[in-house]
Amino acid sequence: ATLSTNPVSARAHTNIALIKYWGKRDEELIIPYTSSLSLTLDHFYTDTTVQFKSNLSEDQILIDGQQPTEKSFQRVHQFLGLIRKQAGFEMPAVVQSVNHVPTAAGLASSASAFAALAAAGSKAAGLQLSPTALSRLARRGSGSACRSIFGGFAEWQRGEDDLSSYARPLFQEKLTDIRVIALTVARGPKSISSRQGMKLSVDTSPYYPAWVKTCQADLERLKVAIDQNDFSQFGRISELNAMRMHALTLSADPDFTYFNSQTLTIMNLVKQLRHNGVACYYTIDAGPNVKVLCQQSAVAKIAATFSKVLGEKNVIVTKPGPGVQYL
Ligand code: PMV
Repeated sequence: ATLSTNPVSARAHTNIALIKYWGKRDEELIIPYTSSLSLTLDHFYTDTTVQFKSNLSEDQILIDGQQPTEKSFQRVHQFLGLIRKQAGFEMPAVVQSVNHVPTAAGLASSASAFAALAAAGSKAAGLQLSPTALSRLARRGSGSACRSIFGGFAEWQRGEDDLSSYARPLFQEKLTDIRVIALTVARGPKSISSRQGMKLSVDTSPYYPAWVKTCQADLERLKVAIDQNDFSQFGRISELNAMRMHALTLSADPDFTYFNSQTLTIMNLVKQLRHNGVACYYTIDAGPNVKVLCQQSAVAKIAATFSKVLGEKNVIVTKPGPGVQYL
């Protein structure tokens, strides 16, 4: 007989790390060397529908209406394998995933993608996972995805093993007027993936041990700043931690960087704004785009400044967003 489960749809939002995850202690299970802390954003999200069907010969995957590359197919296929293993069956799945991010802006995120896939896939398979178990599952797709299960601020506690490495929400009522302005810049040649970049940093940067040490201290200080609703301290520590992460790429062998010339221009402009009394700070992930951290009251001024430089469509104002939800 042909069997099939009900299709299940889930939505997950991207998150921006304020204390970065950069380096895996266990590459297969994705256990990090350090804990990290992020803010989930309302503006960018992924909607994913999963249905398991026994009459398929293999998984059918569509991302933004298109067949994925072989590499992305394998990544999703392997992740579905984890769900099938937990559910105890072998049925292939139909997966349809749509990313709601400005096209070609380089903001597409594996965090929202794997958080949505974990939620939709596990429920479609009949698993009833707790938020913690869902976070652990999402982590196996992409480390940062474990934080996108939750809204607002989330801390990924590095843990020791598969069972103890997961995210949890924190400080839901603090710094609620925080805004993140995403600035998209021209994309150069395809940059080194976060997986490769982390490995190179861990294996070759002489500063890696110092990163592990400072990161823990940065995290503790950031939590105090959030708890005290202290925006300037919050921004300062976030910016510092981001730059310490990027120092690992510059000090790797061979060295590399995710910055391009526009990234540097924006960093200088943020500093200039700050010098002129506008409270704002930057953070940058594994690509040239910059995210500016500010409070609601400063949004108009900052957005106007960057619209002049980058064009309005490259300036996107985002707010704290919700955790994963079923549609
Ligand atoms: O989850 P990954 O493998 O895409 O790595 C994320 C790496 C950073 O975005 C640079 C930092 C972070 O904590 O999200």
